[in-house]
Amino acid sequence: MERLLIRGGRSLEGDIRISGAKNAALPIMAATLLADGPSVIGNIPDLHDITTTMELLGRMGVRLTVDERMRVEIDPTCIDNCHAPYELVKTMRASILVLGPLLARHGEADVSLPGGCAIGTRPVNLHVEGLRALGADISVANGYIRARCRRLKGTRLVMDLVTVTGTENLMMAAVLAEGQTIIENAAREPEVVDLANCLNAMGARVSGAGTDTITIEGVERLSGTRYEVLPDRIETGTFLVAAAMTGGRVHLKNTAPYLLDAVIGKLRESGAEITVGEDWIALDMGGRRPHAVNVRTAPYPAYPTDMQAQICALNAVAEGVGMVTETVFENRFMHVLEIQRMGADVRLEGHTAISNGVERLTGAPVMATDLRASASLVLAGLVSEGDTLVDRIYHIDRGYECIEEKLAQLGADIRRMPGEIVRSHA
Ligand code: UD1
Repeated sequence: MERLLIRGGRSLEGDIRISGAKNAALPIMAATLLADGPSVIGNIPDLHDITTTMELLGRMGVRLTVDERMRVEIDPTCIDNCHAPYELVKTMRASILVLGPLLARHGEADVSLPGGCAIGTRPVNLHVEGLRALGADISVANGYIRARCRRLKGTRLVMDLVTVTGTENLMMAAVLAEGQTIIENAAREPEVVDLANCLNAMGARVSGAGTDTITIEGVERLSGTRYEVLPDRIETGTFLVAAAMTGGRVHLKNTAPYLLDAVIGKLRESGAEITVGEDWIALDMGGRRPHAVNVRTAPYPAYPTDMQAQICALNAVAEGVGMVTETVFENRFMHVLEIQRMGADVRLEGHTAISNGVERLTGAPVMATDLRASASLVLAGLVSEGDTLVDRIYHIDRGYECIEEKLAQLGADIRRMPGEIVRSHA
């Protein structure tokens, strides 16, 4: 298994380009299944989760062509089965996003249940209940969701809680339903808006995305389209926090500052000088140590749970006491235990991490447990004395495009190490 070796102590300086948003690319690629012809999707990040999605679509008979700029042409007209197998779904929960489109377009879908993951139980009951309300006949047996329908029928869906992929799945199912669907208590995440924009470019009639009420007027068919995925706000935020922690100065290009109000607000509070343009953000920490901040995660537009681990890493080396409360997922503090091993003075009280910042962490071998937790360990490594070896970095490769190359471009001392060869004693 590959690992990342980080020698801490350098401040990040320079320019990098931000990639397309993973969490928008995944539902948009699933949405292309709804069309009667091929779509071309641009600004797709080169990530493991994208490769998994391509494999998933490919196994259904969908034809995919990728050019050197990660523009992906997806032709769903040759689909020959509507099956999402366990071996792929278990590596990427977002595979559940094919359920709505397959059902709406083909009247059938057999999708493996994703099961638990490192950050909590993460059920998909609201996806299933919503599709049932739209008229699907759904049973769960042998670890699979088996869904069948004639044409779905629009209805009013009131979501029990705010779910991002749940909102996306139901929106994709409703675009081809008969009549009007209203999703109340919908997720307002920018990636939901990006998906709605792409669906509308395919001929759908979706309005209200970005608010908590989304209205969908069903249409008979959708056509293929060309669409560019929006920039990744979590990758952007991760590099901003990295720069702030190291006292550095960075300029991030091809991003969208308006997507990051909550994160930018917290970084300004921590002492960073931040300027923004239409598609760039510059952060200057002027060599100063950040002040600790208090953060509470919640659905957009509040501070994102996907930026929680990174701000915990910042608080670990900041001046003062910072409290980070997680409200979205039940068990998303695995990184705290690892950062403690690097010398952080942090303790967990229920869903809150309370950190008394230390001047410097000390490098250690640490273990990545999920995507954003692994990013926070890399960030901690950047401000540690000595070497930090982050193991199980396949988690990071799921969601960060060339993270070590981008950090190295900003002056970090970071290297990818080949995995150890495991010998069998049989
Ligand atoms: C998406 C993001 C993920 C992010 C999360 C929250 C993608 C591919 N992933 O995940 O990066 O961390 O939003 O911003 O976009 N829940 C239920 N029942 C359901 C669905 C969700 O109880 O049927 C609960 C979850 O357990 C969790 C909360 O709702 O506690 C929010 O989860 P949700 O928004 O659904 O997360 P994902 O869409 O899986």
